[in-house]
Amino acid sequence: MCGIIGYVGAAGTDVTSILLDGLRRLEYRGYDSSGIAVLTASGELQVCRRAGKLANLAAAVENGARPAPGSLGIGHTRWATHGRPSDTNAHPHADCSGLITVVHNGIIENYAELRHRLEQEGHSFHSETDTEVLAHLVERAYRGEAQGNLLEAVRLALQPVRGSYAIAVLCREQPQLLVGARYNGPFLVVGLGEREHFLASDIAAFLKYTRRVVIIDEGELVALRPEGITIQRLDGTFVERAPTIVEWDAEAAEKGGYPHFMLKEIYEQPEAFKRSLLGRVSEAGQLHLPELEALQRSGALTQVRRIIVIACGTSYHAGLVGKYVIERWARLPVEVITAGEFRYADPIVGPDTLCIAVTQSGETADVLVSARQAREQGSPIVAITNVVGSAVTRLADAVLYIQAGPEICVVATKTFLATLAQLYLFGLFLGLQRNTLRPESVAEVLTALKQLPAQIQRVLDRAAAADDPIASLARELAPLHSVMFIGRGVGYPTALEGALKLKEVSYIHAEGFPAGELKHGSIALLDPETPLVAIATASHVYEKVVSNMQQVRARDARVIAVATEGDEAIREHADVVLYVPPTLEELSPVLAAIPLQLLAYHTAVARGCNVDQPRNLAKSVTVE
Ligand code: G6P
Repeated sequence: MCGIIGYVGAAGTDVTSILLDGLRRLEYRGYDSSGIAVLTASGELQVCRRAGKLANLAAAVENGARPAPGSLGIGHTRWATHGRPSDTNAHPHADCSGLITVVHNGIIENYAELRHRLEQEGHSFHSETDTEVLAHLVERAYRGEAQGNLLEAVRLALQPVRGSYAIAVLCREQPQLLVGARYNGPFLVVGLGEREHFLASDIAAFLKYTRRVVIIDEGELVALRPEGITIQRLDGTFVERAPTIVEWDAEAAEKGGYPHFMLKEIYEQPEAFKRSLLGRVSEAGQLHLPELEALQRSGALTQVRRIIVIACGTSYHAGLVGKYVIERWARLPVEVITAGEFRYADPIVGPDTLCIAVTQSGETADVLVSARQAREQGSPIVAITNVVGSAVTRLADAVLYIQAGPEICVVATKTFLATLAQLYLFGLFLGLQRNTLRPESVAEVLTALKQLPAQIQRVLDRAAAADDPIASLARELAPLHSVMFIGRGVGYPTALEGALKLKEVSYIHAEGFPAGELKHGSIALLDPETPLVAIATASHVYEKVVSNMQQVRARDARVIAVATEGDEAIREHADVVLYVPPTLEELSPVLAAIPLQLLAYHTAVARGCNVDQPRNLAKSVTVE
C-alpha cells in the first residue's frame, strides 16, 4: 500500500508545502521512500525523491532541493512491492524524456510483459518498479494515437494494464491538468477547492484545504483543471457526480473515519486478502508463484523431506494452519515451532528440511536468529513477510510477500489473513510439484480462495448490522476475568488466535485449547463467570466439537459458537452464535477469525483500553 497526492491550481503556488503536508498525513500507508514532482512557473519539472522515511525527503527539500513554486505537482509515499526501497525506485517515475510523470498505489500484475514490449520498442527504463511501465505507456499514447491529449493518452495507456492501481499523472506540456485513475481496489478521492483541486489516496491528505470531496469509483479516470473536474470511465463514457461534504476532523480522517486503526484494518481485510492473491492466481484460475521458481530450479525443493515453520505470535498461529494444509496437500511432515524455542532446542535441520520463516514485520529477532541458524545448517529458507527488503528477506532463498499494506495497530489482523493466503498458495504449489494434488483439486481451492474477499466483506457487513450480537456480547465479556477458546483441526489455531486477540487488546485472560484436550484438565477452570468460545464451523470434526461444547454446557458455562451459515442446529448447544459463510474446511480460519477479532476489539473498547497500542506490546520485537 502506498499513498499518493496531486495538486493543480494557480501558477506561483508553494506546491511543495502542499504535497509534503499531504504526504505527512499519508505516511501511515507506506514509509520506505517518498518523492515529489512539481511543474514550476518556468515550465521545468523539478523532482526530489529519497529512500527512507518522509523526514529524509523533507530534509532534502529544506537543504537545497526544494522545487520552485508552480501550478501542478504530485507526491508519493511508498510501501515497496516491486524493487527494493531506494532513491531510484522511489516515485514519481518518468518516461524516457521526462515528459510524463506518474505516482502509483497498487500492483501492475503484467508489468514484466509490458516492460519487455516497451523495451523492444526502444523505451529505456530507469527503475526496477512496476509503476514505470505506466509512464512509458502514457508517453507512447500521448505521442501517438492520443495526439497530445493527456486524458485520452492515460485512458489508452491503461487498456492493457492488469492488476490494481490508483494513479496521478502529469505532463510537462500541460501545466493546468492533473489526471487520476482508479482500478481494482486502491482508494482515490478528489478534494475541490476554489480554482485549486487535490487528488489523494485519503481525504486526510487535503482536509486542511477543503471538505468538499468526490470519490473516484473503480474503472474511472478524472481530469482536474483549476476551473473544475471531469470524470469518465475507462471505456470513455462520461460520468456526473456531485461532491459530498465530509464532517470528519483530521485525526479521524487518517483513520478513514474509523475510531481506531484496529477497526480500520479489520475492515480493510477484503481488500488486503484480494491483494495478497494478486499476481498469484491468474484469471484462468492457475497458480503462479514465480518467487519460488529459482528455488525449484535449483533442485532444493526436490530433496525436501520435512518442513519447519518458525514464527511468533499471530504468525505462529498462521503457521499452525499452514502445517495442516501443507501436510494434507503436499503430504510432507510439518513442524511449527515458536522461534524463541527453536534456537535453543538443538534443532535437527539440514538440506532436506525446508524452513519457512513467517514474520509480517520481517524484523522479529527470534525469527531472524532461528532462520539464520537453520540456514547455517544447510536448510533452504522461504520467508513470508509484509515488508519488502526487511531483514528476513536478506537471509531467505525465496520470499513470498503477503502484500497486505502497512498495519499500524500493534495487534495483527489483516496481516494474519494475508499470511494465511501465502501459506495456502505455498501448500498448493508444493502439492502440484509433488503430484500429491490433482490439478482439479488445486483449481477447486483457488476458486474458493478467490471467493473469500467477498465472503470476508459479508462477515463485516453482518457485524455492522444493528441486530449483530458481537457488540452486546463484548459488553457482557468486558467485566469478566477469563475466557476459554476451543477448536479442532484448523479450528484449533483459530481458537488460539481468538484468545491471543482478546488478551492482547482487552487484557482479559484468555486461553485457546484443542477441543478434545479441554476435558483433560482445563475444564476445571470453567464456571458461569468463564465463558467458552467454540470454533464450530463445518468440518470433518464438527460433531466432536459439538460434543465438547455439550460437556461444557453441562457445567453451566456460557457457550459462544462460531458456526457456518445455515447451521441452525448449533443453536441448541450455544447461547450465542456468530455465523460465517461456508467455504472449504482448510480455508475456514480466514472467515472464523473475523468475528473473534471484532469481539476482542469491542471488548477492549468497552473496557476503555488503548486499542491501537496495548500496554507492554510492540508491533515488532527486535530483541530476543
Ligand atoms: C509481536 C507482536 C505480535 C506479533 C508478533 C510476531 O509480539 O506484538 O502481534 O504477532 O510480534 O510479529 P511478526 O512481525 O514476526 O509477525
